[in-house]
Amino acid sequence: MCGIIGYIGKNDAAPILIEGLKRLEYRGYDSAGIATISDSGKIEIRKQTGKIVELEKVINQFPVNGNIGIAHTRWATHGAATLTNAHPHVGQTGKIAIVHNGIIENYATLKKHLENEGRKFITETDSEVIAHLIERHYLNDENKDSNNPLARLEKAVSDTVKMLEGTFGIAVLCDDIPDTIIGARKGSPLVLGIGRDAMFIASDINAFVTYTKQVIYLDDNEIVTINRDTYQTKTFERAPVSKDIEEISWDIDEIGRAGYDHFMLKEICEQPDSVRNAFIGRMLHEQATAKLGGLKLSNKDILNIDRILITACGTALHAGMVGKYIIEQLSGIPVEVDFASEFRYRNPIIRPNTLVLTISQSGETADTLAALREAKQKGATVMGICNVVGSTIARECDGGVYVHAGPEIGVASTKAFTSQVTVMILLAIYFARVRGLSRDTANEIMKALEKLPDAIQSVLDSRDSIKKVAEKYVDTQHAFFMGRNDQYPVALEGALKLKEISYIDANGYPAAEMKHGPIALIDEQHLTVALAPDSPLIEKMIANIQEIQARKGKIVTVTDIKNQMIEKLSDDVILIPKVHPALKPILMAIPMQLFAYYIAVARECDVDQPRNLAKSVTVE
Ligand code: AGP
Repeated sequence: MCGIIGYIGKNDAAPILIEGLKRLEYRGYDSAGIATISDSGKIEIRKQTGKIVELEKVINQFPVNGNIGIAHTRWATHGAATLTNAHPHVGQTGKIAIVHNGIIENYATLKKHLENEGRKFITETDSEVIAHLIERHYLNDENKDSNNPLARLEKAVSDTVKMLEGTFGIAVLCDDIPDTIIGARKGSPLVLGIGRDAMFIASDINAFVTYTKQVIYLDDNEIVTINRDTYQTKTFERAPVSKDIEEISWDIDEIGRAGYDHFMLKEICEQPDSVRNAFIGRMLHEQATAKLGGLKLSNKDILNIDRILITACGTALHAGMVGKYIIEQLSGIPVEVDFASEFRYRNPIIRPNTLVLTISQSGETADTLAALREAKQKGATVMGICNVVGSTIARECDGGVYVHAGPEIGVASTKAFTSQVTVMILLAIYFARVRGLSRDTANEIMKALEKLPDAIQSVLDSRDSIKKVAEKYVDTQHAFFMGRNDQYPVALEGALKLKEISYIDANGYPAAEMKHGPIALIDEQHLTVALAPDSPLIEKMIANIQEIQARKGKIVTVTDIKNQMIEKLSDDVILIPKVHPALKPILMAIPMQLFAYYIAVARECDVDQPRNLAKSVTVE
């Protein structure tokens, strides 16, 4: 939920830390701060509430120097978004400063214990406990490495992290060792950037990708000690552990806005490419099947699967719900979909032949990670459908498929959704072909997939007409999105997009469900978006639209057919191209995204960083 970055090198740390925080701002942005070890040898801290630009003003007014520092942008979990609660946090003496991403679940007990020892706390945060604990261990004379400050600090960090329950990615400074930063992770991401005469540590690669593409992803229960030109990775027990250096394939302009007003619009418009990247090299027309080597499943394994459990959160869950329809229809395997936050606590029934699929753009969502671990605990084979390479979920699964959507910066997920659904379709074909699906049907869908990017592009090319429709509804206060069958999850996704970026009260329903209560809310102020592509259920959908119209509700219908009844009943119609039935949920998502985007822009909302939200929900 928060963003952290540490830097040590030959340059002034403050500007590099600020730039890094700006690239992490989408992870959380209610306050920010930096700590450097200044030329005086002391730790200097600057903090501010609000966005990074506010912190920058403070630093311009009260500059800090020093070529080593740590920094943090916060999404509050414990304690309000105040200056005092902003990171970095120090202990009693100010010798130790830390930044933390995650939640310390046993902080209250630890804090009480430390207060009983006479330590004074000044914040409401869980993170401050970490600073006090490290300082306490560091200054404790029993620390047998007393003559070697670095060894002493490493041991203090090691002793501390073993006491912490919950999740953390931390970076630690100590003014006795002005050339060293120590990091540690458990449950929250931490990645090392290896630069020329510089070393970085951060929550994710966006923070330092302008400086280096050589990275090391830390795993849980690992500590790293970094200097300007060296690093050492160890376990929490301080046993050396060797890690592979990986090369980032993204370059910085993929992360920039590339001329679009918002990251969200850029990412919506990237979907012809991102959907193509999800299937390219993964369709074997000769064998009429998909190639998903990362799943590491033999044909025998696939034949033995008697149930699939899909678990995820938010948009990723909606992609999983679309996956349910296509996997069941093509392969005949029963599929259940559940919120990861529910799955992890309901003692799910997992049998030896249950396959669990976790879907996550960031690969760091705490609930999804916990669901994954629960499933593995119960002996399931777990696959991950992720976007961020090397993310925790991706690395903890038994196998999986990367969706290759490229960095998704906008908090509202768009291209990740359509790429996730694309992978679901490939996975359905792959499983189904082992279990009897005909070559023709498989090739028919795969050929249609190859043409889908063009259909997406044509919707994008007509986005001005969608903008015109959307802006008519800028003052809407309440909206329904309704669809049937595999359009129902897309209705949920359309509602989620609208609510999370425009703050309009929007909800998705199966269309037939409207008459079981929701239709009571329909009046001339109420907007309903009907997802009505051609299908065997189109007449039923038209009947549902009629029920709304009969109660004077406003109706925007999105369809791929010209139909007089739809035009008569709807206040506005958005027409999209016709594609293969299996691909309609992907194409329908594009007008849903654009509709929400243009309303949010017209309402002058902060589209890329909506209030109360963060890009990666790494806390419960
Ligand atoms: C979607 O627009 C939201 N930002 C949110 O629901 C998101 O999909 C959810 O938090 C899951 O994130 P993940 O895919 O990174 O696990």
